[in-house]
Amino acid sequence: MKKSILITGGLGFIGSHTAVELIQEGFEVVIVDNQVNSESFILERIEQITGYLPVYYCADVCDELAIEQIFNNHQIDAVIHFAALKAVGESVEKPLKYFKNNINSLLTILSVMEKFNCLSMVFSSSATVYGDADKFPIEETFLFKKSLSAYGSTKQFGEDILEKVSNSSAIKSIALRYFNPVGAHPSGLIGELPIGKPNNLMPYLTQFAANKLKNFTVYGNDYSTKDGTCLRDYIHVVDLAKAHVRSCIYLLENINVKTFDAINIGTGKANSVLELISKFEEVNRVKLNYKFGNRRLGDAESIYGSVDKANNILNWKAELTLHDMVQDAWNWQKNIS
Ligand code: NAD
Ligand code: WQD
Repeated sequence: MKKSILITGGLGFIGSHTAVELIQEGFEVVIVDNQVNSESFILERIEQITGYLPVYYCADVCDELAIEQIFNNHQIDAVIHFAALKAVGESVEKPLKYFKNNINSLLTILSVMEKFNCLSMVFSSSATVYGDADKFPIEETFLFKKSLSAYGSTKQFGEDILEKVSNSSAIKSIALRYFNPVGAHPSGLIGELPIGKPNNLMPYLTQFAANKLKNFTVYGNDYSTKDGTCLRDYIHVVDLAKAHVRSCIYLLENINVKTFDAINIGTGKANSVLELISKFEEVNRVKLNYKFGNRRLGDAESIYGSVDKANNILNWKAELTLHDMVQDAWNWQKNIS
């Protein structure tokens, strides 16, 4: 019988791509999302790509009764918990908003899972949990540094909550620590939909290339890196989505899995801001007239990690390249412009 996966935040950027990959692997998909950062047309796009319309509930994951209703209506085998607010800067200004949404939604979904004996959870964590690391590549065993943003704290606390709940119950969980997710589905039908002016590099860059933004500043060219700009591990969202499919299969098929595990999800390669820009220009034949500006407050010089654990445990490896990332991101931007 087909296994059913509940995707919280399933209309969002990473959730929608994961819904597509799960459906294509033969899973039943149920989505819950309150559309605080997504739009309902994404559901039809998932159907257009896969030929299957997932069951969708428009509800807040902090609403325990609404979540219980979903578990009453469906036999859920595993949960992938994406639902969260993710704007790092806003979380510094409005920490309570982030703690309330990101922590309450996790506590609620875990309580309902326990009540309904649903025993597998994949959690969206982030490489942000490591803070400004001083050794590379970053490994999962590195200790967290104190987080500078409420957003980062919710991921650190989230992992701690999961570890303790998993250690004392039958719920098994995996926290996937994503590096920098970018790109879009190659169909051009789903992708990132940032509200307002984007902060992240790729959506900023594509909106600038589409003449929706006037200036594009590279934040700092005086870092101690090969070209003076920051290094990041950019990962294609379709590869990232597949890591979630592998995690579900791993949790559902292995009896002897560790109660809690945290796994880096990236390509294992570091690219500078300038490398990303020049790849975008070369692949898409678009000139980007950027200027150099000051460093952005809070930016780490380098963030990239080891992805051996994902390969060993999940039998997963990123396959798509920087070329695919800039091509698919631009294709998506042109479709929504
Ligand atoms: P997104 O904003 O596109 O998707 C999140 C979805 O969750 C949205 O559709 C939103 O409407 C929904 N949501 C938020 N709070 C909710 C609630 N209380 N109830 C129901 N739905 C709710 O973000 P994304 O980029 O797809 O990120 C997904 C997850 O991955 C988040 O947990 C995020 O913190 C994490 N993450 C993202 C990145 C990144 O750069 N995109 C990096 C690391 C980790
Ligand atoms: C990448 C590089 C910028 C915009 C953030 C979160 C992190 C995670 C992923 C959720 C940096 C430079 C950017 C611009 C630029 N999210 N840049 N000009 O900061 O690595 O990570 O998203 O968990 O928590 O902090 O990503 O895309 O914002 O920046 O030069 O207009 O691009 O300085 O070096 P970041 P980013």
